Amino acid sequence: MHEIVRQLKEKRDAAIWGGGQARIDAQHAKGKLTARERIELLLDPGTFEEWDMFVEHRCAEFGMDRQTIPGDGVVTGYGMINGRIVFVFSQDFTVFGGSLSEAHAEKICKIMDQAMKVGAPVIGLNDSGGARIQEGVASLGGYAEVFQRNVLASGVIPQISLVMGPCAGGAVYSPAMTDFIFMVKNTSYMYVTGPDVVRTVTHETVTHEELGGARTHATTSGVADRAFDNDVEALLMTRRFMNYLPANNRVPPPHRPTPDPPDRTEPSLDSLVPPRPNQPYDMSELILKIVDDGDFFEIQPDYARNIVVGLARMEGHPVGVIANQPLVLAGCLDIKSSIKAARFVRFCDCFGIPLLTLIDVPGFLPGTAQEYGGIIKHGAKLLFAYGEATVPKVTLITRKAYGGAYDVMASKHLRGDVNFAWPSAEIAVMGPKGAVEIIFRKELDKPERIAELSEEYRVKFANPFIAGKRGYIDDVIMPEQTRTRICRSLAMLRTKSLENPWRKHDNIPL
Ligand code: HXC
Repeated sequence: MHEIVRQLKEKRDAAIWGGGQARIDAQHAKGKLTARERIELLLDPGTFEEWDMFVEHRCAEFGMDRQTIPGDGVVTGYGMINGRIVFVFSQDFTVFGGSLSEAHAEKICKIMDQAMKVGAPVIGLNDSGGARIQEGVASLGGYAEVFQRNVLASGVIPQISLVMGPCAGGAVYSPAMTDFIFMVKNTSYMYVTGPDVVRTVTHETVTHEELGGARTHATTSGVADRAFDNDVEALLMTRRFMNYLPANNRVPPPHRPTPDPPDRTEPSLDSLVPPRPNQPYDMSELILKIVDDGDFFEIQPDYARNIVVGLARMEGHPVGVIANQPLVLAGCLDIKSSIKAARFVRFCDCFGIPLLTLIDVPGFLPGTAQEYGGIIKHGAKLLFAYGEATVPKVTLITRKAYGGAYDVMASKHLRGDVNFAWPSAEIAVMGPKGAVEIIFRKELDKPERIAELSEEYRVKFANPFIAGKRGYIDDVIMPEQTRTRICRSLAMLRTKSLENPWRKHDNIPL
């Protein structure tokens, strides 16, 4: 008995020690925390239940049988975030570079399977040199086992990836299939092939950071949903983020009581929309002024900034906010913003989070770059996402809702539940000038006549009443009452029940 207890202590110490003090120091020197330090910060103190601390790899090649470390480079288990269960795996870069062996993959799969059984989120802290090179195909098989579970868990339990070190080659595809990817600036990178291969194949010279760093993925590729300054910020923001999410797709998102009254009026909103129709304003101001406590967790804030998406609460209940941003590209929909918003809408719909859509959209962005890039297919993603969503949908048109973009953005016709407009709303096929130049093409050489006709068009269509007459708009509301009216609508919709027809799955234009 004593001997077993002694061995237990010895193995626990070895597991906790990981790759040893020198490698821990190297990890710290890079500004990174260790796998266990990360778990400690992520979870409520003292709640972590570790599993499989004694798992070791089974590889005998290349002298690996003489190098085993209990835990095999990944710490797995479950614990709480603000009192709610989450499963977690944290790759330990100090042990074989966090590389994924067959046994390492089995540990990750075990907690994913358990998370599916109990209906709790999985958070992966990725810091790995990729497939364990000494193991060969057994490691590739391990990756595929994880991938398959990512797919089956998608839309059932939230899956969040924090990329906190290297994540290269096929390894990127597990995070890519999870719901959100958060990265850490300067210490994490993701790419399919690294700078050396890039140099050989395309003759481009590029650094790790330029090719796949957090900034690149948060601004250029859109692969990352947020880029944080360091491990601590990434972990604490993940804790905050989890407070918006339900444990799984069968339970409602968590309610958090707020001192912010639902009937709070916001008189400053009455002057948010500027008098001139082409003058921009900041849609974020509207978001921050109507949501509970001005608290908004933005997703992809530096990517496709012509649309703003993120999570907030109204009367304590989470909502997904999707808002055109007139400050960037006049709020037009383009390829990137359509994909960004479509994915977010689908995430919210998977997990029962109501959609609040704030609209000021002059249409789809014209141009060969957009057409050649497939705006037809990509714009259709957003249309499809809104059309298939069955969660409560509350929509507000603040100013422009032109053309196809009017239809796309949670219109009444796409089963919008409550569609409001401010008095400044203009709902039309296109802007007055463009419309008149097409209808009265023959009079283009008479600028005064065009101006006159544009004004006539504006008076006729640049208001919310034509849509209101048809019931496409449920009510025209004063801006200062926006929060009150949205809170009431969402409260009314809390018992909404709507199902799409049975099918194996839809065929969204990918
Ligand atoms: C085994 C690995 C490893 C790996 C790193 N190590 N990657 N061991 N398999 N894949 C070990 C190193 O030998 C070293 O051990 C320790 O981890 C730390 O690595 P360093 O190189 O010293 O660290 P650093 O300089 O920070 O460089 C990190 C790195 C580099 C850029 C990740 O280690 C590297 O390039 N690794 C190989 C990456 C790779 O090609 N992986 C396979 C990709 S293909 P010691 O004992 O010296 O401390 C792939 C396919 C997946 O992943 C397919 C899925 C479908």
